[in-house]
Amino acid sequence: MQDFTSHIDSRICDDVRLNQVSKKFLNQIKTNAMNTNRLSKTLAAALNAQLTKEAHASQIYLSYASWISHQGFGGIANFLFRHAEEERNHMMKILEYIIKRGAEVHITAIPAPHDTPASINSCFEKIFEHEVENTKAIYALVKMSFDEEDWATWDLMQWFVKEQTEEETLAMTLMDKLKIAGGEKVSSMALYSLDRDLEKTPDSATSAQDVTAEKP
Ligand code: FEO
Repeated sequence: MQDFTSHIDSRICDDVRLNQVSKKFLNQIKTNAMNTNRLSKTLAAALNAQLTKEAHASQIYLSYASWISHQGFGGIANFLFRHAEEERNHMMKILEYIIKRGAEVHITAIPAPHDTPASINSCFEKIFEHEVENTKAIYALVKMSFDEEDWATWDLMQWFVKEQTEEETLAMTLMDKLKIAGGEKVSSMALYSLDRDLEKTPDSATSAQDVTAEKP
């Protein structure tokens, strides 16, 4: 019995020693490893925040699309569902960039989408307002990357600047179409026609890997 107990004690000591050696070895590797992170802490945090903003935008489009679909306008809903996918692609574009630059991605909770709009007119207005807010966030990232002279991030942000201009224009076009058709007093016929117009947009967006400036 005595022999067995000392055998166990000796095994435990061996394990503890081995553990200490492994830890020392791992710490050594960490100390010797070259720092391959090419993003500053500030920019990595800002890009991670923007990633969540794009996911939030996707949720907003999803919620509006679902609401409009429930009102019976399948064409407008299809357009907004597709846009929800585009916003997700934007999120993936930033996520992949953070990884490519050797920094850490932090996936956090996505804020809830906005309240259900009171009308299609107000829905388009809310979309426009949201895009303007997002443009401001992108501009802030452009400025940060410029101040840090991080030209890779600055270059990525130019893609987003162009994209935001297109998205704001698109939202403005939707608002204009409704305004011409009567705004809040839009006729059913005009809404029917807009619904058919937007129905022609594709059902699914391209995946993040295929996204280009021409085909967001
Ligand atoms: Fe990705 Fe509409 O902002």
